[in-house]
Amino acid sequence: MSPKVLVTGVTGYIGGDAFHALYEANPDFDYTLVVRNKEREELVRRKYPNTDIKIVYPGAASPAMSLADVLEEEARKADIVLHTAKSADDAVQAKAILRGLQAAGRSPEHPAYWIHVSGTGILQWYDQTHNRVGQLPLPSEKYDDIADIDRILTLLD
Ligand SMILES: NC(=O)c1ccc[n+]([C@@H]2O[C@H](COP(=O)([O-])OP(=O)(O)OC[C@H]3O[C@@H](n4cnc5c(N)ncnc54)[C@H](OP(=O)(O)O)[C@@H]3O)[C@@H](O)[C@H]2O)c1
Repeated sequence: MSPKVLVTGVTGYIGGDAFHALYEANPDFDYTLVVRNKEREELVRRKYPNTDIKIVYPGAASPAMSLADVLEEEARKADIVLHTAKSADDAVQAKAILRGLQAAGRSPEHPAYWIHVSGTGILQWYDQTHNRVGQLPLPSEKYDDIADIDRILTLLD
């Protein structure tokens, strides 16, 4: 059976390019794209006409459904989630995806995969606080993935 792949942010830079590459390589996968509204749905549909790609947005099925509700419902059905839409900054949407993935009763034999595009803006906190944006980082503000992992994991929320 084809994997069910949920992609967010396809109208954006990362999501648009990633989905294009994914679809070119695996046109037989079962894709669901979550967008924000009908206008976006039409935009994406024009790019992928005559395909089985499912495109959903809040209010399409039920006016009461929020974007988080849609994400949760679609994540419940997905094997793989590629989340790029506002992913670095929106905890509500990320938690909705997590709820959906957890609700599905996964097992080690049938896991789900979640690819969550993050951002590195948080590492610029010092420069932003001290009005130094655009200058070279201070040596004390360098973050090494390994040597500085404790500092990275204890950054303020
Ligand atoms: N570009 C980079 O180099 C880079 C690097 C590291 C991390 N990131 C992070 O990766 C994510 C995607 O970046 P991008 O460059 O692809 O951004 P982008 O081109 O601005 O695209 C943003 C996407 O998110 C959607 N979106 C915007 N605001 C939203 C909201 N409030 N709720 C739901 N969806 C929303 C947009 O949909 P609409 O079409 O409806 O506006 C669009 O599909 C961001 O979180 C960004 O911080 C980006």
